[in-house]
Amino acid sequence: MNVDVVLGLQWGDEGKGKIVDYLAQQYPVIARFQGGPNAGHSLHFDSSSYILHSVPSGIFREGTCNIIGNGVVIDPVIFEKECRMLESIGIPIKERLMVSNRAHLILPTHRIIDAASEHAKGSSKIGSTLKGIGPTYMDKTGRNGIRVGDITAPDFAARFQALKSKHLVFLKQFDFPYQADEGEEAWLQAIEYLRGFPLINAEYYVNDCINQNRRVLAEGAQGALLDIDFGTYPYVTSSSTTCAGACAGLGFSPTKTGRVYGIFKAYCTRVGSGPFITELFDKDGDALREKGKEFGSTTGRARRTGWLDLVALKYAIMLNGVTDLIMMKSDVLDGFDTIKAAVAYNINGEETQQAPYYIHEEITPIYKEFKGWDADLSKMLSEEKLPAEFLHFIRFIEDQVGLPIKILSVGPDREQTIVREIFNHV
Ligand code: GDP
Ligand code: IMO
Ligand code: MG
Repeated sequence: MNVDVVLGLQWGDEGKGKIVDYLAQQYPVIARFQGGPNAGHSLHFDSSSYILHSVPSGIFREGTCNIIGNGVVIDPVIFEKECRMLESIGIPIKERLMVSNRAHLILPTHRIIDAASEHAKGSSKIGSTLKGIGPTYMDKTGRNGIRVGDITAPDFAARFQALKSKHLVFLKQFDFPYQADEGEEAWLQAIEYLRGFPLINAEYYVNDCINQNRRVLAEGAQGALLDIDFGTYPYVTSSSTTCAGACAGLGFSPTKTGRVYGIFKAYCTRVGSGPFITELFDKDGDALREKGKEFGSTTGRARRTGWLDLVALKYAIMLNGVTDLIMMKSDVLDGFDTIKAAVAYNINGEETQQAPYYIHEEITPIYKEFKGWDADLSKMLSEEKLPAEFLHFIRFIEDQVGLPIKILSVGPDREQTIVREIFNHV
């Protein structure tokens, strides 16, 4: 059985955690394929909320096997904290979680380099989560990194010191205060904790699942517009967030890709710097932020908000070969008189429906307007109750992008999920 993939189609925080947890009812194996603790995936059920950064969002489902794949970067300290939280609420984490030997480790000095490099960029900073993501992927592609499997090598301590020394030389170029040993003791202790998990050749595990017809769900982090190649570069993250990244980040072939679930919000948000064509700076933007509780799960920063951008959405669907759309946070649009969605861009008087290579201030959105609805979608748990205006809005999106929306999310809770009737299975 092929691997199904869940990924974000915007700038992250689309609601991947909620949907992976929901879909995990049907999947015995859930595997994260890229990113690291820059991710914050929120889950809400039985009146409790949880935020996961490194652990796959299938972890709460009994009988699942969760894998942190080779494409992920791990900060052992954040990993330990998260796992201990899960242990404290009774999740048998060591029975449900395995880690790829090939995943790379975030060192304390990677985090210092992240902070120093952002500081040096001044007003053009990326707005990184400062978790050391960029520097760790730089060491990976630069062939200097330390991998999870290396922690069992007899010379691990020497390798750690050698990479740390390289980092301290690199840091000399920055005018940035730091302590060379900052966080090192806690990091080394957390490495001991990490040793307690099955450290495996996850690519064999995933391919065995494919051959034995065990369903695998690949969980992405961030979103297509933060992709290192196709995102709004340089205001992106440092990994491949698209479907291709799932193959590379878990070790299965593109020919073994099954359904591709593309997740998007009914509007847009972005946290950190970078272009955002449909961004709002008015009371509608404030209302989206307030009603949508748009504050970062990882950093607590207020998220920038704006209307849905169908040009960018179509681009993300194309890049990922999305087969199934999932629209999140529909309830947040309740009560707006008018709702907008960008259908094209105006670039210096010329209209285009293509995402441009370079996004500058002269690019403005061309909107289609929709009448809002006076209803509480968060209480509507089946399709027939949905208001006509809302159905009109989603049918327009489906027409524009050429794909049906299979699942509608109308609230943060597991239960607030409508699988459309035209689809009798997920
Ligand atoms: P992720 O990074 O893609 O997993 O998304 P985050 O968890 O960072 O952000 C999504 C936020 O929206 C979380 O606080 C979720 O609990 C919340 N959420 C998810 N789906 C819905 C929904 O349909 N409606 C509302 N109101 N909130 C939602
Ligand atoms: P999830 O998985 C939203 C953003 C940061 C910054 C840029 C680069 O929860 O959707 P990095 O720390 O990767 O160097 O930051 O990417 N960013 C995210 N924004 N959701 C995320 O993850 C993000 N991960 C990184 O805010 O603009
Ligand atoms: Mg998030």
